Amino acid sequence: MEKLKLMSLYAEFKKDLDYIEKELEQSVDSDSPIIRQASLHLLRAGGKRIRPIFVILASKFGDYSLEDVSKVAVSLELIHMASLVHDDVIDDSDMRRGLQTVKAKWDNRIAMYAGDYIFSRALISIGEFKIPEAHRLLSETMLEICRGEIMQIEYQRKYDQNVRDYFRRIKRKTALLLATSCELGALVSGADESVIRKMGRFGYFTGMSFQIIDDILDITSTDKELGKPAGSDLLNGHLTLPILYIKDDEKFQPFMERAFNGTLTDKERDLMLVYIRNSGAIQQAKAVSDLYLQKALGELDGLPDSKAKAAFVQIAKFIGKRDF
Ligand code: IPE
Ligand code: IPE
Ligand code: MG
Ligand code: MG
Repeated sequence: MEKLKLMSLYAEFKKDLDYIEKELEQSVDSDSPIIRQASLHLLRAGGKRIRPIFVILASKFGDYSLEDVSKVAVSLELIHMASLVHDDVIDDSDMRRGLQTVKAKWDNRIAMYAGDYIFSRALISIGEFKIPEAHRLLSETMLEICRGEIMQIEYQRKYDQNVRDYFRRIKRKTALLLATSCELGALVSGADESVIRKMGRFGYFTGMSFQIIDDILDITSTDKELGKPAGSDLLNGHLTLPILYIKDDEKFQPFMERAFNGTLTDKERDLMLVYIRNSGAIQQAKAVSDLYLQKALGELDGLPDSKAKAAFVQIAKFIGKRDF
């Protein structure tokens, strides 16, 4: 249902997205059947394609050529996919996009190289541009994703951390890639410098909100809705924003300890999730996400009205309400 709603927001840009989808399929082609199958498995499992749509929409603020923009969009979605393949190894996740993860269907070793392969394909795609700034931006973003994921490992099961640590992590692991999607879309279509910067900030604020919602959904959704077990973040020892708000609660702490040392039963997990849902932690985190969305929408204010701007507004609002 929600997915249909998102797709209807994309309808106006379906031709562009279909073109990108074909390019994506071609770009993960490989002589190695395992690498090809693993990449296509994740690609065909779907996903929201938020990064490609952001590239397309941002490019509409400049002089837009589908062929160019498609290379950027492909590159961004591939970087996202590669980081997911690696993330699932780190998080030991068996389900992604409602299907088995690459690491579960094949194994960790295959997932490491499939991820590297997809990363490299992303570099080939962006390499078609003779714009040094585009390469610098993308490389720095990849660097930051690595730093974000490593920070997440460092902070795993670490009780002594605060919301600023959390914001620093999600900025790196998520928000900067969305910022870069918007910036690069505007950059390769020759938009004004001020528009490129605005796009960057819009993507960043939207990305912060997006990850906070993702972390809320991990607690409020069912296994079926998520396509993976609810509460995975806590079971993996990740303290997300709602958890940082509730971690000092005395009744919650025994749950958290047992989640972290792997002794929580399924039934206790359900009780823990209900306990968090009934506390104010979810609303508090949601309020922060809403603030980021307001900031994102504020960035669009100064831009001329267009179909692209209207779609950005709709997608940003969707992110605030999404339940998948
Ligand atoms: C998942 O990203 C990882 C996060 C940054 C939260 P998406 O929610 O965009 O994943 P797909 O592409 O739709 O599967
Ligand atoms: C997303 O992190 C992975 C990256 C941004 C690299 P998460 O671990 O929070 O995302 P899911 O929940 O596995 O999709
Ligand atoms: Mg994960
Ligand atoms: Mg992770």
